[in-house]
Amino acid sequence: MVSTLDVADLERRVKEVYRAVAERPHERYHFEVGRGLAQRLGYPPDLLSHVPAEALESFAGVGYCLDLARPVPGERVLDLGSGSGTDVFAAAHLVGPTGRVIGVDMSEEQLAKARRLRTAANVQFLAGHIEDPPVPPGTIDLILSNGVINLSADKAAVFRAAAAVLVAGGRLAICDIVAQHPLAEHIVCDASLWAACVGGAAQVDEYRALIEDAGLRIVAERDNPGYAFRSGSARAATVTYGIKSTSFLAVKPR
Ligand SMILES: C[S@@+](CC[C@H](N)C(=O)[O-])C[C@H]1O[C@@H](n2cnc3c(N)ncnc32)[C@H](O)[C@@H]1O
Repeated sequence: MVSTLDVADLERRVKEVYRAVAERPHERYHFEVGRGLAQRLGYPPDLLSHVPAEALESFAGVGYCLDLARPVPGERVLDLGSGSGTDVFAAAHLVGPTGRVIGVDMSEEQLAKARRLRTAANVQFLAGHIEDPPVPPGTIDLILSNGVINLSADKAAVFRAAAAVLVAGGRLAICDIVAQHPLAEHIVCDASLWAACVGGAAQVDEYRALIEDAGLRIVAERDNPGYAFRSGSARAATVTYGIKSTSFLAVKPR
């Protein structure tokens, strides 16, 4: 748990940023959003055709990890920090009508948008925190999370919760922002840089250790060079600290 950051203030700012991304996706943010970003990150156009256009315009992920995740028909999927639902809608297509996809997010406006666009009965968007998702233990085959865990002040809790909800043999496939070098205190304590997906970037060795300490085993890792921040302050921090987008695939041992 980060003790030098005002966690309540951080949550308020994160909610403010992502309310705006849900309601005004065409404004300029520290980071890129939308279809062009998704395509550059590697989402196949055919898969994107199964995502409602309005969900896609608020896409704010940092990579494409459905190819690592490989959802198969019938699987139960949980997306931590589902935003307007791009990965949920894409995963719902891949798991088909016998599967089930749940998105969890703490932003009312992101949830409202995703729920409005939902048409399939096997898709659900739930209000909640990724540190304690409202899902029973041992009920999920695959967890996705795209550009979210960096925003949490308690990443250890997120990975513990992920391990708890997965079935034995279940997978965690995530894209997130990490740093090669530990961030300076003044960056970590800057809630607006944190909300912009920079300030909460964990050092990558620590990030791997958090995943493995939760009882998950990392089986694949790759960088997402297609992801770049937009604003000057965010870009400056990425150069100084080696901040980058990386995908991880981890499994819960049987
Ligand atoms: C960068 S956006 C990514 C959204 C989505 N994954 C996508 O790819 O478009 C981050 C999302 O995570 C949500 N979020 C951030 N921290 C959260 C937390 N601790 N619990 C639940 N949701 C959180 C935000 O509300 C926002 O919708």
